[in-house]
Amino acid sequence: MDRHGLEKLADDCAEEPMECSSPANSDRPVAADLCALIAARRSVAPKRLVAPGPSADELEAIVALALTAPDHCALRPWRYVLVEKKSRELLGALFAQEKEEHDPSASVEDIDKERSRALNAPTLLAVILRSTPNHAKVPVSEQLISLGGSVQNLLLAAHAYGYAAMITSGRKIASTLLQEAFCDSPTDQLVGFISIGTPSRLPNERAEAKLAEHFQVWSPKF
Ligand SMILES: Cc1cc2nc3c(=O)[nH]c(=O)nc-3n(C[C@H](O)[C@H](O)[C@H](O)COP(=O)(O)O)c2cc1C
Repeated sequence: MDRHGLEKLADDCAEEPMECSSPANSDRPVAADLCALIAARRSVAPKRLVAPGPSADELEAIVALALTAPDHCALRPWRYVLVEKKSRELLGALFAQEKEEHDPSASVEDIDKERSRALNAPTLLAVILRSTPNHAKVPVSEQLISLGGSVQNLLLAAHAYGYAAMITSGRKIASTLLQEAFCDSPTDQLVGFISIGTPSRLPNERAEAKLAEHFQVWSPKF
């Protein structure tokens, strides 16, 4: 699907009655476009992301929006590292090496498949948690939540710019090889890669989440 198709999809979604549209008994304005954008965002697998990806200016704007996530004490516990096209072969070699080390019986095809994962999307960002351990007010678990908010902002911003994106991790992310390739300090942790591009096809319907299973009224137990 090209950008025109995506825009049409967003328009169609905007015409659907949105759950977040103003309730009939409220005169509070609702940013329906933003609700439609959030509802319509879908992750698209890196192998289904083709050119074009965001321009350099667009990418800067997208990452800048990622930096507006909720962030206790302004720790900015995130880093996004662009893996440029010229570095993809090298990253692919690391993926292949990690596969061979983890699974010495892996076939040449399996190893090449891992290598090819580095070449897929037009734009590839490594996502790093840069934590502040033993902070007086902000435990690392909170910093990780902040990073998640930042990633979601980035995915939504990419979508708003007419691209699709996906965060992936996989077992290999935890390997010393990849951690050392992307982390500059012991407080850095590589947590995933974000791929961005134009979707060659959209994913299947997302399984519906039941509101009642995730949104309840507190029943005090005392
Ligand atoms: C930190 C993180 C890592 C993920 N890693 C993978 C992955 O390696 N492979 C995968 O298929 N999905 C992975 N996912 C899930 C997808 O990114 C995506 O959220 C999921 O397919 C749901 O699609 P949706 O965003 O369109 O609802 C990961 C999600 C998160 C938050």
